[in-house]
Amino acid sequence: MTKTLALWEKAKREGRKMAIVTAYDYPFARFADEAGLDAILIGDSLGMTVAGDADTLRVSLEQMEYHTSIVAKAVKHALVMADLPFGSFEESPQKAFSAAARLLKAGADIVKLEGGAPMVETVAFLAKRAIPVCAHIGLTPQHIRQLGGFKRQGKTQEAAQLILEDAIALAEAGARIVLMEAVPADLAREITQRLSIPTIGIGAGPHTDAQVLVMHDILGLNPDKAPGFAKRYLNGAELISTALTQYAADVRGGQFPG
Ligand code: KIV
Repeated sequence: MTKTLALWEKAKREGRKMAIVTAYDYPFARFADEAGLDAILIGDSLGMTVAGDADTLRVSLEQMEYHTSIVAKAVKHALVMADLPFGSFEESPQKAFSAAARLLKAGADIVKLEGGAPMVETVAFLAKRAIPVCAHIGLTPQHIRQLGGFKRQGKTQEAAQLILEDAIALAEAGARIVLMEAVPADLAREITQRLSIPTIGIGAGPHTDAQVLVMHDILGLNPDKAPGFAKRYLNGAELISTALTQYAADVRGGQFPG
């Protein structure tokens, strides 16, 4: 069964936790879908995980469109969520609509955009025009120049209050999901309790309706770059390196081809 937004909302009402992972290409999207993940996020984190950049700022709408289209091809069940990249939506609600429509045409079920209060008008504009939106608040990596780096957010009571107000305003504007990154667990719990729409957390404690992690962090593909809150389920880098070393040795030693 396809994991529609209605199923997500039902899971929230019934208190069932949901799991999300990023994927950027066909084989990994297929693994994630077949493993039963509830949503697959084509995150602009691909600028870091796939392209090796230090941040996500250079990712273009064309790149997001391409990766969304190849992930969507592989997914039969999970909700497909795609990031609006930096520079593609902030200027005006109209610009956001054009960019979001391109991601929906590429196969996304819902778009994710970063930003709090300044994005409320845009979220309302999209919601009224058949574009489901996930609003990403807290640590918003597209704003790192302004934030001064990948820093936890909502650490003071005043900062936490602003994030709570942003979450409520975005939900009232029509956001279908709110994602919180790197905020205190108590704040994430309060937002999750106050909103009737599902919440997703990353580095935000255990109380959100869903959790998301980056595929490369789960599989240990970039172990030196994984954030402290991520959990590694595989030593992918080690396994891949061993296999490739073995292949090279087999060719050089005449064991392959047999
Ligand atoms: O781009 C991304 O992968 C994300 C997640 C880290 C939430 O936004």
